[in-house]
Amino acid sequence: ALDGTEIIDALLTPAGSANPYPIYARAHRLGPVSRIWDEMLLVPEYRTVHQLLRDSAFGVADAQARGGFDPTFHEHSARLLLSRSVLENNAPDHARMRSLIASVFTARRVAALAPAVRAAVDRLLTELADLGADGTAVDFMETFAFRLPVGVICELLGVPESDRFRFRDLGSALSVLLEPVISPQELATADAASDELVDYLGELADQRRAEPRGDLVSALVQVADGADGRLSDQELLANLLLLLVAGFETTTNLLGNGLALAFEHPWAADGLRSGRISSAGFVEEVLRYDSPVQLTNRLPLVEGLSVAGVPLSPTGGVLLLIGAANRDPARYDRPDLFDPTRQDSQALSFGGGPHYCLGAQLARLEATCALPALLSRFPRLAPAREPVRRSRLVLRGYQSLPVTVRG
Ligand code: HEM
Repeated sequence: ALDGTEIIDALLTPAGSANPYPIYARAHRLGPVSRIWDEMLLVPEYRTVHQLLRDSAFGVADAQARGGFDPTFHEHSARLLLSRSVLENNAPDHARMRSLIASVFTARRVAALAPAVRAAVDRLLTELADLGADGTAVDFMETFAFRLPVGVICELLGVPESDRFRFRDLGSALSVLLEPVISPQELATADAASDELVDYLGELADQRRAEPRGDLVSALVQVADGADGRLSDQELLANLLLLLVAGFETTTNLLGNGLALAFEHPWAADGLRSGRISSAGFVEEVLRYDSPVQLTNRLPLVEGLSVAGVPLSPTGGVLLLIGAANRDPARYDRPDLFDPTRQDSQALSFGGGPHYCLGAQLARLEATCALPALLSRFPRLAPAREPVRRSRLVLRGYQSLPVTVRG
């Protein structure tokens, strides 16, 4: 395989995380796999990313693997905690935890949230209208894109309304753990955020254990203490924290990325307003074209593996470029064209295989409800200033997206 160092170096610059797509195009031209760092492979190809996510010979980096890569791993409470969640475990622990969570976080429970999502969208649109009534610029990220998903996931979990405002900074501090390169300062902030949320969620779980309600925390506490499977206390807290943070960090970015694309493609925004373009089609294309999650990793679980014909060392790993796979010219006709009328797009934004996103249905519910309602309520919605991207490679979204609602 060719040397892909130039690709990963470019992605890790500020310009690269601001706009990775020209770099992904270069990665595609290098071939389906290239070599980076010592023993890592970089995979931009749709077919190979799709296949590796489902291949049981590959797994996520668990606590043991992480401890091997990073001797300070055990000193960081945030890293340790995340390693006890579904996201960082392989079979059999992953299957045990995932089936317990899935038994309470069901499609039925999510579908039942639809009226609450619609009500929350209406309420937030009214707030946006009030804030922007005199023509002032309002930050869409702060006033809508964050508040909708945080409100919905808190409603689902049973977190009281008054505690929600703290989560924006805590979620942002924790989600940095997914980035391939982290500063000591960011790591310290993540540890503090993790400690704070663990205390908070521990108290909430104790309350619900004593006095169960109809919410997801009560339900998960019950199955965690149940006869089959079981979750340890640490696993319960790790998975609650993951659900909370994953519940809004990514969906916030889906809403922001979606609105920015509506601004860049007025015909699509008008199509969404008039119903000529389906909200489902629009949201699927936002997911493909500008995925809120841009990459993930896998490690070999057995020896002697190769990726697209390139041998992989047993101590190596694979970087799966979801954002590049979603724009693979071998998979998509005119991949750099934003086209919400595409059929059967099947972007890899929610991953695939055993770790397929547990919240995909919820994220789609929120975005398909919010984006058309937003555009219809404000026919002259427009950007007020240049939006500012977050300087993150993995979780792609805006720091701020100032809008005027009246025009
Ligand atoms: C896993 C993306 C929203 C909960 C994942 C994975 C991706 C992803 C790519 C797989 C990671 C991997 O295989 O390495 C997204 C995107 C979202 C979103 C793009 C929004 C647009 C949500 C929401 C929730 C959620 C709303 C919770 C309510 C989870 C959980 C996992 C996960 C718990 C781990 C599943 C496992 O390891 O078995 N997500 N997600 N996500 N997601 Fe999401």
